[in-house]
Amino acid sequence: MSAAPGGRASSAPLLGRDAEPTVFELSVTGRSAAQLRTTGVPATLLERLVSASYLRREPVALPEVSERDLVGHFTRLSHRQFSVDLGMYPLGSCTMKYNPKAFDEIAAMPGIADVHPATPAPLTQGWLALLCEIERELCAVTGMHAATLQPAAGAAGELTGLLLMRAFHAANGETRTKVLIPDSAHGTNPASVTLGGYEVVTIPSDARGLVDVDALRAALDRDVAGIMLTNPNTLGLFEEEIDRIAAAVHEVGGLLYYDGANLNAILGVVRPGDMGFDIVHLNLHKTFATPHGGGGPGAGPVAVSERLAEFLPGPAPCRTADNQFEWRMPPRSIGRVHSWHGNALVLARAHAYLRVHGRDGLARVAERAVLNANWLRVRLHDSYPAAFDRPCMHEVVLTAAELKRTTGVRALDVAKRLLEEGFHAPTVYFPLVVDEALMVEPTETESPQTLAALADALERIARGATDDPDAAHEAPRSTPVRRLDEARAARHLVATEDDRDPVEPRG
Ligand SMILES: Cc1ncc(COP(=O)(O)O)c(C=O)c1O
Repeated sequence: MSAAPGGRASSAPLLGRDAEPTVFELSVTGRSAAQLRTTGVPATLLERLVSASYLRREPVALPEVSERDLVGHFTRLSHRQFSVDLGMYPLGSCTMKYNPKAFDEIAAMPGIADVHPATPAPLTQGWLALLCEIERELCAVTGMHAATLQPAAGAAGELTGLLLMRAFHAANGETRTKVLIPDSAHGTNPASVTLGGYEVVTIPSDARGLVDVDALRAALDRDVAGIMLTNPNTLGLFEEEIDRIAAAVHEVGGLLYYDGANLNAILGVVRPGDMGFDIVHLNLHKTFATPHGGGGPGAGPVAVSERLAEFLPGPAPCRTADNQFEWRMPPRSIGRVHSWHGNALVLARAHAYLRVHGRDGLARVAERAVLNANWLRVRLHDSYPAAFDRPCMHEVVLTAAELKRTTGVRALDVAKRLLEEGFHAPTVYFPLVVDEALMVEPTETESPQTLAALADALERIARGATDDPDAAHEAPRSTPVRRLDEARAARHLVATEDDRDPVEPRG
């Protein structure tokens, strides 16, 4: 793409409906934000470094912008986003909690950040020692025996866990075909089961929002490789029958997989290993000081009980008999699940978070996360009752079904109105088993004042729905982008800048 003649002025209003120009539209031929001449690297002809067959015939069309215009562009874009650093982000199941900046500073220390992953083990003993320590800490928190730090995210951890399940059964000479999942499960669970080559069997929830243990028993046979569970489940409720569930699954030779994407509710209080689980994945980019969402790197380590340790991915960091560290492949490893050693700086942040909090501090995180969710459940009872009205864990699933029946204002409208009130929207229409679901996860990082302000805003929206339902249907009206046709945006994906056919804002 050629630069627009003259480019665009870099000053633009912060609010209002005007779209921020693309960086290509700011481009003016000859402008540059880079200062390559000051690097000290001697100039060399490209042809000497790269074979002619790999060289482009035409230069690639890159935007040419000054540093000033570039910084202005990204700063304006960042001011138009809602972010965890900006305000409360109660997106249920996602644990969008505030991440203290100290952990970023630790992960950015030169001895941690400036090490190339290909550096031989004898020169990276400190990093290997750190990785071994992180593995130990994650095993201590989950009640497991060993862990892999390689998977890059929760879903990658799930697939790793299912491949471990497969390897375990294969080593016992068994070809099992099915994995059980409750109907309230996160969408990545059935997707991972399918990717792992198993058939999904859905187990219904009972009237209390928990796994229906009779239905579970009826589905159990020797074709069942295992069950994937989240506890507390995706309705924010603790599976009280977990002992019976674990015993029943183990009785037919199946394994229990714990989706620990969100550990906020049980940190330092209960351990999946003690509940009978064999495989656990954790999203370090939720609970352990790395922001979730926004496309940044994550980490989904998988911890396992002793009988599964020999199948873990590798090479894994290990301590030798003479107290050195080296990379070793577990004896019956399923192989690599990530290039190099995973997203190492996310691991470094998690390590710092675990050390700073200590066991008591982690338990306080869980207690406050649970207290905050229950405070909102009780406070909002009259306007948005909980779908299952009893003590919840770190999140609460409210329903706007009655509001919709009496005013026509739906959960989606409430979520959009909340943006105008200065809060990010909660998760809506999930879990699928709740009508007009609003899934709120306040996290432990919000103050009582912020929780009260969120409750005030939600109550104001409910009251306003009777007098002026259109305000809710048309919301958000004061944000840079108004209500989008989300169904069309999802079905009509335009991923290139050249052929863009933007989805027009409504209203
Ligand atoms: C319960 C649960 N499981 C799994 C995942 C998947 O994690 P990721 O997005 O890192 O792949 C999530 C993500 O939010 C989740 O909430």
